[in-house]
Amino acid sequence: MTTWYVTTPIYYVNDRPHIGHCYTTTLADVAARFHRLFGREVLFLTGTDEHADKVIAKAVEHNVSPQEWTDRCSAEFQKAFAMLDIREDIFYRTSSPHHKSLASAYIAKLQAQGDIYLGDYVGWYDVSQDEYLTETVAKESNYLSPVTKKPLEKRTEKNYFFRLSKYQGFLQNHIDSSTSFILPEVRRNEILGRMRQGLQDIPVSRAVKPGEQRGDEPDAWGVFMPGDPGHRVYVWIEALCNYLTAVDTPDRKRFWPPSLHLMAKDIVWFHAVIWPAMLHALGEATPLTVYAHSYFIRDGEKMSKSLGNFIDIDVIGAYVARYGSDAFRYYLATNGPLGNNDADFTHARFVEVFNADLANGIGNATSRVGNMIQKYFDSKVPDPQNTRELAGYDWPTIISTSVSRAIAAADTMDLSGALSEGMALVRKVDGYINATEPFKLAKRIESEPALRDQLGAILYHCAEALRVATLILSPAIPRACEKLWVTWSCASSAPGSATLTERAAWMGEHSLRPGQALSKGDVLFMRADPAEPAPGKAES
Ligand code: MSP
Repeated sequence: MTTWYVTTPIYYVNDRPHIGHCYTTTLADVAARFHRLFGREVLFLTGTDEHADKVIAKAVEHNVSPQEWTDRCSAEFQKAFAMLDIREDIFYRTSSPHHKSLASAYIAKLQAQGDIYLGDYVGWYDVSQDEYLTETVAKESNYLSPVTKKPLEKRTEKNYFFRLSKYQGFLQNHIDSSTSFILPEVRRNEILGRMRQGLQDIPVSRAVKPGEQRGDEPDAWGVFMPGDPGHRVYVWIEALCNYLTAVDTPDRKRFWPPSLHLMAKDIVWFHAVIWPAMLHALGEATPLTVYAHSYFIRDGEKMSKSLGNFIDIDVIGAYVARYGSDAFRYYLATNGPLGNNDADFTHARFVEVFNADLANGIGNATSRVGNMIQKYFDSKVPDPQNTRELAGYDWPTIISTSVSRAIAAADTMDLSGALSEGMALVRKVDGYINATEPFKLAKRIESEPALRDQLGAILYHCAEALRVATLILSPAIPRACEKLWVTWSCASSAPGSATLTERAAWMGEHSLRPGQALSKGDVLFMRADPAEPAPGKAES
């Protein structure tokens, strides 16, 4: 079976989870569910980045040990992701002994082969981002952090450096030879532009300051330079290693290299340049795709603590309580900043999408068809034998086209495109019902019994097309789909060993069987009133 390994960034535990973290992780989950549905063996990794200086500062501020602090914060992320029905295979933490010892081993290897060396560094350090900025970038931002606007610190230190400059040629070739290595294209072009300025060696450590823990102290927090406990490994370098340490076990190594590293555009340089160079130096294969989406913003502004305009986990919780986790996932997957542009989160748009696609779309169509089958066929799937072709409704072709298009779209990370194939099937069924008017046929059956077969065939087509629509939509709205599959007695459609193409085959092994129970069931999505106030404090 083909393996498919997807990762999200590991999140800093100094923040509570917010829509940004939930967005990337939900996208990864939707993608992972698509790939499982396509019959691939998926490994989905997410987790927390726990050794940053600012994490230690937070622990001190709260008067607890870094371990206690990160246990608490990491649990918040796990809870948030569980609330959104995210099913990661591994929730990984960089404070785990497995990660620490393997990350040290990789660094020791790079050191031993001369890819990491000791030198002098003078530079501008952004403490809030744990990142050194080049002179140009520092100057451009007035020597303030471009993100938090806090003053940059000028630091001169003995540092260990990674010989990034040595890998310029390798990276250039790699990027030139694979158009799907960095996606979307706009990010690829940005990286290529920055590479043209030439790659410099980068610092990978910082000297422990007086009063700070050294690597040879018991329970020292972080990863230290092998053989030099007076130097802490720069957290980005160690954090990137998580993608490899997590699968560096005898049973998981077969998932390497990652099919997809997913993140926002803020950190694409680390993933598309520094990390692949490190991997190449280590003799490991490089990730197939680094995909960087854009930002969720609020009313045109970047979300930030100082503006207090985050859609935080409490607001997300209020949305989930009111509209369900499926609705929130669906909104993220279809209306988020997947492409080149940032996307605004607005309550009005949320309700619009909820009503159009979920309540009036899949919810209404399934309940309408379920209702008619219950009423006219005693809650049993009718027999489609007497099928009359209707121009424009060649169902076997319509369905197989939708399925192949959904697969092609999900394979290039166009998740909203893939989901829109499911929604298009729903609209097609609506159109078919309007064109064939089964409710009118039903009224005529008493006087013309021969019409019963025709009615049965129409309703069968509707139900079967909707079954396939739910298969395609299920990565985004798994709860509603599973609920429907129970009332429509097609639990065999639930994720298992058969692939989407097999399950969707018209009159195939997994199709609805004439005579099997199919009832109306509960309404999947109750229409929302656009005038009702936004849940939580998300008014806009
Ligand atoms: N710890 C590093 C990543 C190390 S990976 C080896 C880090 N953590 S973070 O907590 O700041 O998370 C950044 C990521 O969160 C972004 O790349 C993105 O995936 C997500 N988002 C944070 N804010 C976001 C938005 N406003 N919109 C969309 N996603 C954003 O960086």
